[in-house]
Amino acid sequence: MKNIVLVGFMGTGKTEVGKIVAQRLQRQRLCLDDMIEWKVGKPVVRIFKEDGEPYFRKIEAEVVREASKDKNVVLDAGGGVVIDENNVKYLKEHGILICLMARAEVIYQRTKGHLHRPLLNTPDPVASIDKLMKEREEYYNRADYKIDTSDVPLEEVADKVIEIYEHHEPENRTHMVLT
Ligand code: S3P
Repeated sequence: MKNIVLVGFMGTGKTEVGKIVAQRLQRQRLCLDDMIEWKVGKPVVRIFKEDGEPYFRKIEAEVVREASKDKNVVLDAGGGVVIDENNVKYLKEHGILICLMARAEVIYQRTKGHLHRPLLNTPDPVASIDKLMKEREEYYNRADYKIDTSDVPLEEVADKVIEIYEHHEPENRTHMVLT
């Protein structure tokens, strides 16, 4: 069975939805950011600060390769994973990529006050969200499916993920499921 790979911007609910889906399908869950933290031995925010973003991306790519070998898992990836074309290639080898999305103001409400996301620890997080979302739009389009989670409880998003997964046909790719 293919992996379910959740991608998408920070604060779109990948981790929570991944937990619900894994539990419902009785699948193992892998979180790429956790794997990076185990590998490096410190939290993401410290990796960015002490080693820099390029180092984080290098480790992220290594972890993607390792995790992509698995089958039958629910994988949640950090928001920047799709920028590297090779990451997408590996993740698609054994997985269906489902991109969770949300409007910028929803992202802000969900992430404000959290300090573990270095890219949003800026003087103007709304501007950072807007800028990054625009820059990354084309990369998120690399996913097979997209779900807008802005106005939907995460339990329902999990239902949709499972529905997509169970009815997946290659020709169904890249259509908006929920708005
Ligand atoms: C990042 C998203 C984070 C984490 C890192 C970089 C990004 O993961 O990988 O801070 O580039 O969007 P979440 O999307 O799980 O917050």
